[in-house]
Amino acid sequence: MDTSKLAERLVEAGQSHLLQFWSQLSPEEQAEMIVDLESMNFMEINNFYKNAMKTSGQTSQEKMDTRMEPVPRDVLGSITRDHECLKGWEEEGLRCISENKVAVLLLAGGQGTRLGVSFPKGMYDVGLPSHKTLFQIQAERIRRLEQLAEKQYSRKCCIPWYIMTSGRTMDMTKKFFTDHKYFGLKEENVSFFQQGMLPALDFNGKIILEGKGKLSMAPDGNGGLYRALGTQNVVKDMETRGISYIHVYCVDNILVKVADPAFIGFCTLKGADCGAKVVEKTNPTEAVGVVCKVNGRYQVVEYSEITLATAEKRSTDGRLMFSSANIANHFFTLTFLKEIVRTHEPQLQHHVAQKKIPFVNTQGQLIKPDKPNGIKMEKFVFDIFQFAKTFVVYEVLREDEFSPLKNADSQDGKDNPTTARQALMSLHHRWILNAGGHFVDENGTPIPAIPRVGPAGTVAPELSQNLKDGTDLPIKCEISPLVSYGGEGLEHLVNGKAFQPTLVIDENGVHELVKNGL
Ligand code: UTP
Repeated sequence: MDTSKLAERLVEAGQSHLLQFWSQLSPEEQAEMIVDLESMNFMEINNFYKNAMKTSGQTSQEKMDTRMEPVPRDVLGSITRDHECLKGWEEEGLRCISENKVAVLLLAGGQGTRLGVSFPKGMYDVGLPSHKTLFQIQAERIRRLEQLAEKQYSRKCCIPWYIMTSGRTMDMTKKFFTDHKYFGLKEENVSFFQQGMLPALDFNGKIILEGKGKLSMAPDGNGGLYRALGTQNVVKDMETRGISYIHVYCVDNILVKVADPAFIGFCTLKGADCGAKVVEKTNPTEAVGVVCKVNGRYQVVEYSEITLATAEKRSTDGRLMFSSANIANHFFTLTFLKEIVRTHEPQLQHHVAQKKIPFVNTQGQLIKPDKPNGIKMEKFVFDIFQFAKTFVVYEVLREDEFSPLKNADSQDGKDNPTTARQALMSLHHRWILNAGGHFVDENGTPIPAIPRVGPAGTVAPELSQNLKDGTDLPIKCEISPLVSYGGEGLEHLVNGKAFQPTLVIDENGVHELVKNGL
C-alpha cells in the first residue's frame, strides 16, 4: 500500500506520529486507518485547535461580569408571570403546527459518558411502569400534539422529526426506530442525520491515538448541528416541506414538551428569529449557564465565567438578577438557521474541554490517565444566539419541564434515572390532582395531595429512605403522552375518583396495577 502521499500530508500538518505503529498493523487495520485518515482535513483541525486555544484563554472573569446585563422584561415571557397570555400563545402555536409549519429537531449525538451505557441515551428506560424509553415518550408527545392541532383547527397535519446522531449512535438509533415501527409515527416524517466528529488532541495539538491504528474521535458538540444542517441537506428538506419554525431540544430531558405550542406561539407572536426556553436559577451557586446580554448581544454565560458576587446579585423583586438558566431548548426560524448555515457557522469557535483521554504510549500500550491529558473541541447549540436579530426568552417551571438524565443511579445522586422517573411521576400526580382525582392507599385512606419533591434534580430527603428500601415515590402514576400532552383531557377519566397506586392511564384506559394484581 502506497502511503507516501498521506505521509507527506501528515508531516506537513505536524501529525506524522499517527503512523508510528504502521508496520505493526494488519492489512485490514491499515486499510481502516487509511480510510479514517484520508477523510480528515488536518489543516482545518490544526486551525480549529489554534483558534480554540486562543479564545479559551481569553475570558477574564472581571471583564465578563462588568459586560453582563440581565434579560430585559420586554423580551421575557414567563409561564407564571404572564399567565393570562398562555392560552393565546398556545392557540397560535397550535395554529402554526396545524399549518405544517413546525418541525422538531432532536440533539441525540452525545456519547452519554456519565450515564455510562453502551447504547444511545434515547433508548434508556428509566423504570416507569410502562418501561417506555425516552425516544418513545417523545414520539408519543409528537403524535398527541398533532392530534390536538388537528382537532383545534380541523385540518390534518404533521410535525416532522429530525434526529441528529453521531457516527457512534446512528446505526443503533435507526434500528431502534425500525424495530419499534417508529412508535406509530410515519417513517417518512422521521429523518436521521449525522453530525461531524473531531479527533481528541493533546495539549500541543497532536491527535491522540487510542489504539495503534485508531484515532481518538468524539462528536463535535451539539453545536455541530449547524455544520451538519448544511452538509446533510437538512435545511433543504425543511424548505421542501414548507417548515418555518424549528424546536430544538436535548434527548435527555424526560419532561421535554416537544414542539411546545405555547413556546412556539410566544416566539412567533414576538416576531423572534431565535428563542431560548429557560428555568429560573434559584440558587446562586448552581452550576448552570445563564442566558444574558454581553456587550449588547445575547449569549449563555457559564457559572465558571462569573464571580460569586455577580451570581448572587438580586433584582428589586428578590429574584436572582441572572436567573435565566439555559436548558438547551430552543426556537429558531428556518430563515435564521439558513443564515447561520450560509454565513455564520464557520465563525463559531470551538470550546475546549480538558479531559482524561485514553491513549497508546510510544510502546503501544493503552494508558488510562488519571488526570486530564488532552482536549476535546466542541461547538455549542447556543453559540448562535449572538446572531439573532430578535431574541426572546421563555421561562417555564423546572418541575414541569426540566429533568435531565445525565448520570447513573447512585444514592443521593442528581439528574439520574431515579430523579427522572420521579419527576415524571410527580408531574403526572399533579395532573391527576388538577383534574379532580386523588389517591388512596391499600386501606382506602387518602394519600396527602401534595407531591413532595426535593431541590432541583434531587430526591426529596424523606424519600431517600424509600429509595434505600428499594421502593419508590409514594405515588406511582404514569399517564401516556397519547392520552395527555400537558395535563389536558383527563377530567372525564379521573374527576371525583380515588385511585390506588400504581396508576397507569393509557390509550386502553385507566389501570390500577397493584389493586388488579398486575
Ligand atoms: P451533554 O453535554 O449532556 O452530553 O449533551 P452527553 O453526551 O449527553 O453526556 P456526557 O457529557 O457524555 O455524559 C446534551 C445534549 O446534547 C447532545 C446530547 O445527545 C444531549 O441531548 N449532544 C451532545 C449532541 O447531540 N452532540 C454532541 O456532540 C454532544
